[in-house]
Amino acid sequence: MLNATAPAPAAADPLDAAMRRVDDVIRERLASRVALVNQISQYIIGAGGKRIRPRLVLLFAEALGFDGPERHELAAIVEFIHTATLLHDDVVDESALRRGRATANAMFGNAASVLVGDFLYSRAFQMMVSVNRMRVLQVLADATNVIAEGEVLQLMNLHDPDLAVEDYLQVIRYKTAKLFEASARLGAVLADAPADIEEAAAAYGRSLGTAFQLVDDLLDYEGNSSELGKNVGDDLREGKPTLPLLLAMARATPEERALVREVIEFGGEHRLEEILAIVRRTGALEATRTAAQAEADDARRRLDMLPPSRAREALLELSVRAVNRSS
Ligand code: IPE
Ligand code: IPE
Ligand code: MG
Ligand code: MG
Repeated sequence: MLNATAPAPAAADPLDAAMRRVDDVIRERLASRVALVNQISQYIIGAGGKRIRPRLVLLFAEALGFDGPERHELAAIVEFIHTATLLHDDVVDESALRRGRATANAMFGNAASVLVGDFLYSRAFQMMVSVNRMRVLQVLADATNVIAEGEVLQLMNLHDPDLAVEDYLQVIRYKTAKLFEASARLGAVLADAPADIEEAAAAYGRSLGTAFQLVDDLLDYEGNSSELGKNVGDDLREGKPTLPLLLAMARATPEERALVREVIEFGGEHRLEEILAIVRRTGALEATRTAAQAEADDARRRLDMLPPSRAREALLELSVRAVNRSS
């Protein structure tokens, strides 16, 4: 019976039902005959995460009028690929915290993490074959290949204080924006959208992913570990020349620049506070946020190509949140 005095329920997430179905697919497809595979994959996937990439698949499919069950399968596939990259990335970055839990490498070791990452990648490809569309295979084969190139390029750039901003941007387009691009594009592919609409979806994903990683790199300096669910300061510890450091060096005094260079070249997590002061004083954090905002604005403009809908509004909201997030 309706109770007139009860508070109105909070507005439901328009994707609630579809995301629940995606979670079912994820649970069903995680199953393995090997106990340790189940244990580790449940461990990382069960910790949650924001599920942004599956949302992109669902929202573009909905915005373009596709409501078949393949959308749930593809949404689960991109989350598996993403999770595989996280398992590998945390080994490479020697990270200790992910999604508010000890990383899989910290809990189960590097070897098990790398191998279960491979399981998730290859399970994703088995699922793609079941969708039985060559374009889907092509988009995701290309995306996973480019992500791997991005991670290797980044490895080559570690400890290089002279890295050009353009080369930094190439890394983030490859390692992060490419999967956002593929996810958005796949929604359009499922809907058999015309080429110009598919390209607009892809461009939205690319710009959103670039904004998202710029903010990730910013939060690695000014974020909060408990909100983020991962440790801040990891990039500095690794000597990773991300945009906050590159911009700080360009704007710093010679003494400050020498310190930042030294920390990139030789590491120095114990100097995080000093580096943070330089990054703040030079305005490098705001400048990074401004760069992210410009990418998010680009993403938003691509949405003009879509007919008005609830899904288009949600995509607009995502472009705002990518920049203003703290988790
Ligand atoms: C983390 O991605 C890796 C980056 C591209 C920065 P997310 O921030 O989307 O990770 P989860 O899935 O929400 O944990
Ligand atoms: C994430 O890069 C990119 C991929 C996982 C491919 P980061 O190394 O910046 O991501 P976090 O900060 O560990 O989530
Ligand atoms: Mg990392
Ligand atoms: Mg990071």
